[in-house]
Amino acid sequence: MRMGRGVLAAALMLGALPAAAQEAACPAGEPLSAEADHRRMMDTLGIEALRPGRNGMDPDAPNAANYDEAASNPYPRLPPLLVDEEGEAVGAEDWGKRREELIALFDREIYGRVPEDVPPVHWVVISEEAAEIGGIPALIRTYEGRVDNSACPGIEVTLDLTLTLPAEAEGPVPAVLSLVFRLPPGVELPEGMRPQGPSATERVLSRGWAHAELVPTSVQPDRGDGLSRGIIGLANRGRPRTQDQWGALRAWAWGASRALDALEAAPAVDGDRVAIEGLSRYGKAVLVAMAYDTRFAAGFSGSSGEGGGSLYRRDNGETLENLASSGEYHWMAGNFLRYAGPLGWDDLPVDAHGLIALSAPRPLFVGTGSADQGDAWVDPRGIFLAARAASPVWTLLGEEGVADILYKGAGTEDLGGTLAFRQHGGGHTNGPNWEAFLDFAERHFAD
Ligand code: GCU
Repeated sequence: MRMGRGVLAAALMLGALPAAAQEAACPAGEPLSAEADHRRMMDTLGIEALRPGRNGMDPDAPNAANYDEAASNPYPRLPPLLVDEEGEAVGAEDWGKRREELIALFDREIYGRVPEDVPPVHWVVISEEAAEIGGIPALIRTYEGRVDNSACPGIEVTLDLTLTLPAEAEGPVPAVLSLVFRLPPGVELPEGMRPQGPSATERVLSRGWAHAELVPTSVQPDRGDGLSRGIIGLANRGRPRTQDQWGALRAWAWGASRALDALEAAPAVDGDRVAIEGLSRYGKAVLVAMAYDTRFAAGFSGSSGEGGGSLYRRDNGETLENLASSGEYHWMAGNFLRYAGPLGWDDLPVDAHGLIALSAPRPLFVGTGSADQGDAWVDPRGIFLAARAASPVWTLLGEEGVADILYKGAGTEDLGGTLAFRQHGGGHTNGPNWEAFLDFAERHFAD
């Protein structure tokens, strides 16, 4: 349509043009399906086909998950952590530089890069109520983290954070920030994952600490067709990702950092003693958050599995190819897909031991459940081996990693160092590891 002068002037006065211009800058419309966006990313990368993942549901499937240790690549050759890109040995004084090299690799190849102009978050307290939790007087404060969406009003992102404080605390207290699953009404967790015994909030409050809970899906939806929404979509103004941009794990870690901003601003919380906790996909996000934000003083990553603490170079339970599929690729950078075809696991310039090492020298508790109780998919031994392989970095920085202990499945633990490993006898849950983690954190926070 051609506009006459008069129409144009009227449109300007009514503000119609700025809206139209905004529409062009921030296209709305139906998001691509996960399959279509996955295919689009493969085309961008020039990939025709990816190797299929393992089937964790059907042991008779031709691609059934492998749980035979002898066939798992039991002695993987891992990229060295303490040799830099020039081939030089890394001393304690060089760790900062080596750390940056590793971060650059995780940024580009694994989790993706955060764009430079991510809009700011404005935290607002929306309610405060007194409560009693396990007999402890408490104060529950609800926050909304409103992300500035003036550049793209069609995409709203509001971070969902709750902070439960012990009401009778004197002075600022340590806090644990949990990344929590929020289930749709009427949906229940599978049995092995249902919390048993006291809630995490009750356990943390019993130590005299505060417990914060962030809902990661309020930062970024947990699905491929959500990539043009959430913080990733907003920062991209509704457009699809480029191949090196962040996936959901990096976005959830970014959200955890924004939650930490809010906790640091709360006078009742000691911002220098905030730990972060999560299970499964959020156990992966805990490791990413610890790696990228050194303000987190301690971490508790449970049953993180593939894409988290478990070695990529093992064929046990879930594999890299599962992460590259249309059901999970949104957690990762687009570039990561290349390692599921044409490249292979051994082409990865880093492995999970490098991710764990990026927490050093801070206290990190790496937990899993047991294979025969429903936690086989995460490859508990693969997580143990990664923690062992990361341990020299703690030693280099004057702390202790996980000692050279024998792996024996359930009951394998070393809690004496600043990097701890503990495999409990339950399933896919952090429940039976909570008290051990809190003892561990309490000891380190007292130092
Ligand atoms: C799936 C997925 C895992 C993930 C888990 C979870 O099992 O394959 O990688 O950790 O879901 O988050 O519950």
